[in-house]
Amino acid sequence: MRMLVTGGAGFIGANFVHQTLREHPEFSVVVLDALTYAGNEASLAPVRDDIEFVHGSVADAELVDRLVGRSDVVVHFAAESHNDNSLRDPSPFLQTNIVGTFTLLEAVRKHGVRYHHISTDEVYGDLELDDPAKFTPETPYNPSSPYSSTKAGSDLLVRAWVRSFGIHATISNCSNNYGPYQHVEKFIPRQVTNVLSGLRPKLYGAGENVRDWIHVDDHNSAVHAILDRGRSGETYLIGAEGEKNNREVLGLILELTGQPADAFDSVTDRVGHDLRYAIDATKLRTELGWTPRYTDFRDGLAATIDWYRANEAWWRPLKDGVEATYAAQGQ
Ligand code: NAD
Ligand code: DAU
Repeated sequence: MRMLVTGGAGFIGANFVHQTLREHPEFSVVVLDALTYAGNEASLAPVRDDIEFVHGSVADAELVDRLVGRSDVVVHFAAESHNDNSLRDPSPFLQTNIVGTFTLLEAVRKHGVRYHHISTDEVYGDLELDDPAKFTPETPYNPSSPYSSTKAGSDLLVRAWVRSFGIHATISNCSNNYGPYQHVEKFIPRQVTNVLSGLRPKLYGAGENVRDWIHVDDHNSAVHAILDRGRSGETYLIGAEGEKNNREVLGLILELTGQPADAFDSVTDRVGHDLRYAIDATKLRTELGWTPRYTDFRDGLAATIDWYRANEAWWRPLKDGVEATYAAQGQ
């Protein structure tokens, strides 16, 4: 089986490629990645000899047509993925997340290739902090940011291509991932690398916002379950009962790195900051028999901190630029 993985030099895509080669030898893997600021070929170094890497954009119709034409399945991770960046400049989000997805859909339609679309729980908007509800596949779309609205738009394109053209496609909407190779602009790696750099962690606002954390390997094992057993045209929500507010997560990072509990700064809150995300993954668990492996967040976080300690050469070149951008916004 020939698999095209878009965005395979990013955080989740690179971990997906590693897992695929480790656990699913029936796939040969081609990665298509534009190597934006978020893409890093070093994340693929351990598997570089076992894959084909193509440097290019998912919005390049001629290139995409050629690559999809020689694939059996496409797994589409490539995206502009960071909310804060989308608030500064939405335009690349439109180009990659909307036009890029459209370009892939036209190619899979032409060549009759199986397509899996990686998306986010943020398409559903947010929940109140004291609301017992969780997102389900029936929750109406209500995205808040330029990032999440372009992801929502891309999901709707997939649904329309399924209904109008009968393409063989599935969608997954996952909650917040953590693990190795995550860019230092994101919450957990930013705080961990701040501590490792002698800088104080930065908490937006009061830190009461809740995210539903899942280890990246659990996200990716769910994607494999969907590729293997998912029904065409269906949406699967991926989550692992990992709700925590940002203060709790930061508290654990400080504890695990031997810092005092108050060794952080409260900084300017994110504009339009979603309050809470929470996933009901019943459909994935009951229909496809998927279960997460990383059920102890503290253990998974400790292993992630160890990874950042051991891989400073991977993140150090990114750190100063990211902090300078945040500092310019009082964050
Ligand atoms: P990331 O920012 O770490 O990686 C994105 C990758 O896409 C990079 O390698 C980048 O170079 C590549 N890319 C960007 N524009 C491209 C283009 N035009 N053509 C080809 N490649 C391009 O993102 P991530 O956190 O790994 O997220 C991957 C996917 O998972 C995204 O679709 C995101 O919406 C989704 N997702 C992320 C999370 C999370 O917690 N990070 C949760 C749910 C869903
Ligand atoms: O829910 C899935 C989404 O999770 C994905 O679709 C996105 O691609 C991914 O980036 C992530 O979005 P968030 O906006 O939730 O993640 P981020 O890591 O940017 O922030 C997590 C929380 O931490 C959020 O409430 C904002 C807060 N935060 C973030 C940073 C960078 C801080 O308090 N301080 C910070 O320095």
